[in-house]
Amino acid sequence: MHLLLHALSVLLVHFSPTYASPQGSCACSPVTIPVHVDVLVPKDPTDEFAGLKSNASELRRVDATYDIYGIFCEPDTTVSSRNKDVVQLLVHGITYISQYWSPPVEEFRNYSYAAFSCTHGAYSSLAVDALGVGLSSRPMNASDVQYPTSSAALSQIARHLKTTPLLPGA
Ligand SMILES: *[C@@H]1O[C@H](CO)[C@@H](O)[C@H](O)[C@H]1NC(C)=O
Ligand SMILES: *[C@@H]1O[C@H](CO)[C@@H](O)[C@H](O)[C@H]1NC(C)=O
Ligand SMILES: *[C@@H]1O[C@H](CO)[C@@H](O)[C@H](O)[C@H]1NC(C)=O
Repeated sequence: MHLLLHALSVLLVHFSPTYASPQGSCACSPVTIPVHVDVLVPKDPTDEFAGLKSNASELRRVDATYDIYGIFCEPDTTVSSRNKDVVQLLVHGITYISQYWSPPVEEFRNYSYAAFSCTHGAYSSLAVDALGVGLSSRPMNASDVQYPTSSAALSQIARHLKTTPLLPGA
């Protein structure tokens, strides 16, 4: 219970940070984007080729809708150098979560890539939790979380970013 509360407080700190620098400021909001994936994954989740070398009998279908969680940061509208047409999709590596791009730990506050690119380059970013990680969906069958599923989910997020404003009124 104590651990859970600690985890929650860390998340809350991360929820709506505002970054400021001499170049301008940024506002960040949590977003959840539903994605639909329909992919073939290897029946054997330890397959090192992620099914690319498998025949049909060694594959199974994953057809599901998941929620992908992320933190969207954008420069203040008054920032003149704002790059409105660019949104960076920030994807963490294995064993990390979206906070990789902006660690909510005091000693690391100067190492926030999300903050730096937002205030200095005036670029928006969406740092996502990968499928099965952080606050994104956790499929009941952990074996559903494989490269084909995760990459399809990210591809859907990229498509979403190109077509749909993330925040109301944006
Ligand atoms: C869960 O994953 C295993 C291993 O890949 C697979 O054999 C099994 O059919 C899956 N179960 C369901 C309900 O999809
Ligand atoms: C599929 O590949 C497996 C392993 O290489 C092999 O044992 C099996 O006979 C193949 N099945 C078909 C239908 O080709
Ligand atoms: C880190 O950030 C704080 C607050 O913005 C600032 O006062 C401090 O000088 C920075 N430290 C380094 C090493 O850049």
